[in-house]
Amino acid sequence: MSTFQPGQATVFHAASEIAQLTRAWRKLARPVVLVPTMGALHAGHLSLVTQAKRIPGALVVVSIFVNPTQFGPSEDLAAYPRTLETDVEKLRAIGADAVFAPAAEEMYPHGPRTMITPGPLGDILEGASRPGHFAGMLTIVHKLMQLSHCTHAIFGEKDYQQLLLVQQMVTDLNLDVQVIGSAIVRETDGLALSSRNAYLSTEQRELALTLSAALTAGAYHAGQGPEAVLAAAQAVLEAQPSIAVDYLELRGAQLGDVDPRGANRLLVAARIGSTRLLDNVGIDFGSEEVTGQPRPS
Ligand code: PAF
Repeated sequence: MSTFQPGQATVFHAASEIAQLTRAWRKLARPVVLVPTMGALHAGHLSLVTQAKRIPGALVVVSIFVNPTQFGPSEDLAAYPRTLETDVEKLRAIGADAVFAPAAEEMYPHGPRTMITPGPLGDILEGASRPGHFAGMLTIVHKLMQLSHCTHAIFGEKDYQQLLLVQQMVTDLNLDVQVIGSAIVRETDGLALSSRNAYLSTEQRELALTLSAALTAGAYHAGQGPEAVLAAAQAVLEAQPSIAVDYLELRGAQLGDVDPRGANRLLVAARIGSTRLLDNVGIDFGSEEVTGQPRPS
């Protein structure tokens, strides 16, 4: 049993141990904030932890688990970066309370069996490209919420569809958890932070900037309506034929039809070499203002 020390990123590998700690915390009527991650932590993850720590009296639990059920057979499960030691150092430096880092057998002792179905929202965009991904993601998030007894859970907006699906699951399954979305963190040149950026060569990283550049170009044209937004973003992507664009779509804020007078989201997914990257930006036709990053400078 790990000896728990608040603010010291105490590591737990056993589900029963993290459950015991968080149950005790809830008995004191104090909030538990879950920050689910797959590790290889970067400044984007750390900003979620910093946000979690702002909730008064909270126990901040960061889960680090490369969840096999959300990877397809041809995806990067084996190669996904696993850097537990440095992750824990980073979490200790910013005062996370507990780290839950289970083995796959701890989370799936019977293999993948009962799974959560995402519904139609899980069939579009990422769901269309990665069959089964969202069922695996929702299943593990639900299990982590149960084990951590969390009152709050924080997710980055970079995986925008994931955030909406988690919100939908919490509503549909009557979970007593407040889901909080957190703004995308970017490098100074606009690249959205992602653990998968580590796969990029210098040349590929340069190419990857095309994604945020396309979103910025789209955002510039918000005042001219949806077609102009899409055309501007498309033109930037087409200028780099070595990028394999999976989708570029403008959708309403809940990923339904575009709202020509309200809040929308412009989303892109593309492959640079063998690395698949995502990015998105809020576009508000009502106020003609761009919400979130990237912004026109
Ligand atoms: O966004 C991620 O890193 C993962 O999908 C999550 C939420 C940790 C579930 O495995």
